[in-house]
Amino acid sequence: MALFLVLTASAQTHPNPPQTPSDATSASAASPTSDKKAVQRDDYVGDVACSSCHQGLVDTFHQTAHYLTSRLPSKDSIFGNFTPGANILKTSNPDLFFRMEQKEDEFLQTAVEGVPPYIESRTERFGLVIGSAGKGQTYLYWKDDRLFQLPVSYWNQLGWVNSPGYRDGVANFERPVIPRCLECHATYFEPVPPPPNRYRRTGFVVGITCEKCHGAGREHVLRESGKAPVAADSAILNPARFSRDRQMDLCAWCHKGHGIAIAPTFSYLPGEVLEQSIEFPRPDPNAQIDVHGDQVDLLKRSRCFQSSAMTCLTCHNVHTTQHDLASFSERCLSCHKPGTDAFPKMHHQADSNCIDCHMPKQDTNLIVFDWKGNKKKPQVRNHWIRVYRDTSPVSKSWCDGLALGNVSADCGPQPFKAFDFYLSLPNRPPLKRN
Ligand code: HEC
Ligand code: HEC
Ligand code: HEC
Ligand code: HEC
Ligand code: HEC
Ligand code: HEC
Ligand code: HEC
Repeated sequence: MALFLVLTASAQTHPNPPQTPSDATSASAASPTSDKKAVQRDDYVGDVACSSCHQGLVDTFHQTAHYLTSRLPSKDSIFGNFTPGANILKTSNPDLFFRMEQKEDEFLQTAVEGVPPYIESRTERFGLVIGSAGKGQTYLYWKDDRLFQLPVSYWNQLGWVNSPGYRDGVANFERPVIPRCLECHATYFEPVPPPPNRYRRTGFVVGITCEKCHGAGREHVLRESGKAPVAADSAILNPARFSRDRQMDLCAWCHKGHGIAIAPTFSYLPGEVLEQSIEFPRPDPNAQIDVHGDQVDLLKRSRCFQSSAMTCLTCHNVHTTQHDLASFSERCLSCHKPGTDAFPKMHHQADSNCIDCHMPKQDTNLIVFDWKGNKKKPQVRNHWIRVYRDTSPVSKSWCDGLALGNVSADCGPQPFKAFDFYLSLPNRPPLKRN
């Protein structure tokens, strides 16, 4: 997808993030969070330090959604259009519109409300871009050392839209951005609570970078470049050597929904037992899981997963962009080998696209936004691999409006809401002049 080719050099804000209590690089898989050893945050050296030896990996990785998932604002990182005429979002409220402007290096979002001559406006500066724009992006702004979400987002096929979960026709600048949001969408921020959206404004690392999954790299770099004694191990985490459960945990850290923190955010290290840092409410086995954001629990419902040693890594190589459904289908064939009993007996050809029938794209109810009076939902790939009898077996809205907070009694249990923090926040703060 061409979108991912947009690169920015600014994703790494600081090569040596500041010290913070964290875990040991060589953390044993099961060390309880309570007796974590402190690792210096400056043992993290940044992707640039890896490129001298792993150039190829760094180059392909820097085109992935993971790396591009958060960036500093720039012409390249913001997908929304600032050209006059295209830079306005009208709302269902005739007295309110939003205007997006670029002024030199600054990108501004302004809410304009009222009837002349009684016009009030509020302007905030784009501070951080969240989302590679595969589907869309939301934007954050700083108010001193606190981070808030901006009311206007960008959605791929539509352009500027009301941010997901925001009420159309209302200018809401008051949604705090909590650490868990940044834990999933960035490498490192240092929270300084309370309140829960204060961060150090220096030393943060945007984008998901190598060391998010591999742990601090300083010792590995020193050893491999001959500046430290050679030792038996490589002093860097390699998830290829994790157990199946710990491999699943690495992806579940961000692909199993929001969860409930039981250890400080940003303290989990790959290789550890995730449930000791984040508790995930047991999904009701009969409840419907929304296709968005919880690939882990959906995959676990698949017979493929239950009857084999499959992990996310069976199909995904996170170091490169993968959207070719033919090569994904080859992953299926590695187990469902043509000519063996594992290959389906009826109506199947080995060279067909297995994905669209058995992992269909479906609507999500967890990201919903108002657009010109309609509710829009992006489509997400369902990771429950199975036989779907019709084209959209479970996609029909089982609870319309869920993501807007209008939860009705017949919605049934909601095992998982990745974006539920969107819901619990205040809706109509006063619009302040600034
Ligand atoms: C000076 C060269 C050099 C630099 C810089 C370097 N590496 Fe390596 N790395 C190597 C070599 C050589 C190997 C293979 C030898 C080995 O497995 O110990 C390796 C292996 C690895 C492995 C597999 C380790 C294992 O135990 O299987 C990972 C993961 C890794 N590097 C990640 C990184 C990351 C992340 C960075 C940047 C923080 C980085 N490397 C920087 C040279 C380097
Ligand atoms: C630190 C959080 C984090 C971890 C750990 C993580 N992911 Fe992701 N992943 C994300 C986020 C956030 C996105 C969405 C990025 C975007 O489009 O802005 C994403 C997107 C993806 C995508 C879609 C890529 C695309 O091109 O659209 C795949 C596939 C994926 N992740 C697989 C994995 C696998 C497999 C693992 C485990 C090895 C993993 N992720 C670990 C946060 C994470
Ligand atoms: C538990 C981890 C997690 C949390 C918390 C989280 N996200 Fe995400 N987000 C993801 C993953 C994973 C994806 C992409 C995969 C998917 O859609 O299932 C994603 C997708 C997105 C996208 C679409 C990106 C694209 O390129 O299409 C946006 C925008 C986004 N998130 C913004 C946010 C914001 C803003 C917050 C906090 C206020 C937040 N997310 C909290 C994991 C998370
Ligand atoms: C989202 C998590 C994630 C990120 C980010 C990530 N890796 Fe990996 N890396 C993995 C996983 C999982 C494996 C083991 C499975 C595999 O080889 O795909 C791995 C394996 C490796 C290996 C060993 C390959 C082998 O053959 O054993 C090297 C080297 C490596 N990564 C380097 C890097 C570098 C350099 C970066 C940054 C440019 C990076 N990784 C970013 C998850 C990640
Ligand atoms: C790691 C091996 C492995 C991979 C990879 C794999 N499967 Fe499977 N799959 C299995 C096993 C094992 C079963 C269960 C067979 C049984 O129980 O009879 C299964 C079952 C199935 C079923 C029947 C499901 C049901 O509920 O009855 C379908 C359909 C299927 N696989 C499709 C796929 C598709 C499509 C892909 C690729 C997207 C895929 N599989 C990848 C191992 C795998
Ligand atoms: C056009 C849609 C479609 C495509 C493409 C497709 N399948 Fe299927 N698949 C089905 C349907 C429908 C069934 C249920 C079979 C039946 O009822 O006869 C099924 C059944 C299966 C089963 C269980 C079969 C059994 O014998 O129990 C497996 C495994 C499977 N498919 C794997 C694959 C693989 C691997 C591919 C890619 C090579 C693939 N499918 C491509 C629709 C499809
Ligand atoms: C059997 C193969 C297979 C396995 C196993 C698998 N995936 Fe996927 N995944 C796919 C395919 C195919 C796509 C669709 C790629 C596309 O359309 O570009 C996909 C897409 C994704 C996306 C993007 C979702 C979207 O709708 O944009 C994410 C995120 C993701 N996978 C995460 C994971 C995670 C996390 C795991 C482990 C829990 C996992 N995947 C296991 C095959 C797999």
